[in-house]
Amino acid sequence: MFVLQLIALGLASVVSAALFPKGTLVKSIDEKGFRKIMQQNQTSVVAFVAPWCGYCQRMAPEYSQAAVGLHPLVSLYAVDCDADKNKGLCAEQGVKGFPTVKLFPRGDQLPSVTYDSNERTANAFFYWASQKVPHTVRKLGQVEDVEEWVAKKPSKPHAVLLSKDKKIPLLWRVLSNKYRDELLFAIHTDKKGNSAATLGVKGGDDSKSKVIVYPAESTKPALYDGMLKMDPLSEFFSAVIDGTADLQVADAETPISDEQVVLNVADKEVLVDEAVKDAGPPPEESSREKDEL
Ligand SMILES: *[C@@H]1O[C@H](CO)[C@@H](O)[C@H](O)[C@H]1NC(C)=O
Repeated sequence: MFVLQLIALGLASVVSAALFPKGTLVKSIDEKGFRKIMQQNQTSVVAFVAPWCGYCQRMAPEYSQAAVGLHPLVSLYAVDCDADKNKGLCAEQGVKGFPTVKLFPRGDQLPSVTYDSNERTANAFFYWASQKVPHTVRKLGQVEDVEEWVAKKPSKPHAVLLSKDKKIPLLWRVLSNKYRDELLFAIHTDKKGNSAATLGVKGGDDSKSKVIVYPAESTKPALYDGMLKMDPLSEFFSAVIDGTADLQVADAETPISDEQVVLNVADKEVLVDEAVKDAGPPPEESSREKDEL
């Protein structure tokens, strides 16, 4: 029995290794893993596949490439519906053909969206997923609007992106989705780089975008002086929410990192990690340009 199980496990990993390229960022999950990602307040994409299906085999490298482009903002997963332990989940998710790709905008808190095109390319997955990330980012036209907006709900902390650009970067949308109920998000276009000073925040590099936060019950903003990336910003916002953020350091004159890469295609802007650049070309390599948040 034990030996048989080992053989079965070995075969299962050979099968999934055959479907997705070596080193893929697509995580294979089972029902338990699926329930876990449904608890997260983040956008996830799940491909329901069968190893023998030709469309799945053709989709796999493209889906894998989309995972690189979206990492670490949106995670891509795969469920092998051929495995007995996943059959209940695949039935529950209404999987009738392979592959079935579904996007869960915010764990199980919002209805899922099924990918309904036959164009299963990295680019198509990439833009579909980035457009579907829900957000609650408020656009503040004038610098005076910032204080008014903060004063409306003083019980919650507020975060404002003083941006060089009008569009809401995907990173900012992802963060607003993740912390939707705990922290309020806004964007203000700050072309000249003087809005922070107008709001009484010193420091930072005026040629770059900045993030300022107002802790709960406070009308005094603080400058975030870390990198404008998913992980450090998440860590910082979690600390702001639970009241442990060390906002004194916000006065340090450390310039914000210019390490980000923005994928700028049509009207979509996506901030990705520097690591992604080294991991291989994301979709539409020609359209990438270096920029700030
Ligand atoms: C997700 O959001 C809900 C409220 O919408 C909250 O109660 C829960 O703690 C959040 N879960 C995580 C993992 O942050």
